[in-house]
Amino acid sequence: MLFMCHQMAMKKEAQEKLKAEQLRRAQAVSDIPIIWILGGPGCGKGTQCAKIVEKYGFTHLSSGDLLREEVASGSDKGRQLQEIMTSGGLVPNAEVLSLLNAAVTRTKGSSKGFLIDGYPREKNQGIEFEQKIAPADLALYFDCSEDTMLKRILARANAAEVKRADDNEETIRSRLQTFKRNTSAILELYAEKTLTINAERDVDDIFMEVVEVIDCVLQKKERAAKVC
Ligand code: AP5
Ligand code: MG
Repeated sequence: MLFMCHQMAMKKEAQEKLKAEQLRRAQAVSDIPIIWILGGPGCGKGTQCAKIVEKYGFTHLSSGDLLREEVASGSDKGRQLQEIMTSGGLVPNAEVLSLLNAAVTRTKGSSKGFLIDGYPREKNQGIEFEQKIAPADLALYFDCSEDTMLKRILARANAAEVKRADDNEETIRSRLQTFKRNTSAILELYAEKTLTINAERDVDDIFMEVVEVIDCVLQKKERAAKVC
């Protein structure tokens, strides 16, 4: 009996420690904006992120780029990831979240804000991110037709010196299916913090709308910091 009580107390203590650690982590990262960048393959996530980085100096973390770095390392894990990516499916979230978490932890001391590009791709990814890393302030969803996305990726592939392994028509169609299957649930769950942007326009016109909303988020953060 005494032993059981002791075990329960230890378990409670461990749970409380974990909760305190999660809260500490969330508070440290939440001082700066965290923006999820959503949209189908080729909608222009990376293009807009590059412009945001140029203007605001935020840290750009693309889940696809982090995964491709792991693939390029030539590890066994990298080979398994490559297989999933060239099939157009989703890599298990444990892998993606651990890469994102490591990158956030590495850079948060000097970061002015985070752009989490290509994440979440299904709603549980969002839930786990907010539990384990920090709540997102905003999600930007770049809305684009499948036809345009397909054309943009094929054009990118044609122009590239080194073509991405998943930039071929068969894989692009599978990436589009994966995107279609999962996205409405994300948009529903995070409706309150999502802004949908028409991505079928000129890069600079899209960016003007992006700037308006990021300025708004920054002002909100500043006001919240003053109140605290
Ligand atoms: P990822 O690398 O994220 O690929 P993606 O989502 O398919 O998107 P892309 O990077 O191809 O396109 P983009 O939206 O960035 O567009 P870009 O700006 O380059 O993911 C790859 C794979 O990794 C996934 O399929 C999955 O397997 C795995 N993965 C990644 N994240 C994951 C996660 N969270 N969970 C599980 N698995 C995950 O633009 C495309 C082209 O269009 C460029 O040439 C650009 O110049 C041009 N362009 C851009 N904007 C415009 C415009 N407005 N007008 C005209 N041209 C434009
Ligand atoms: Mg990209």
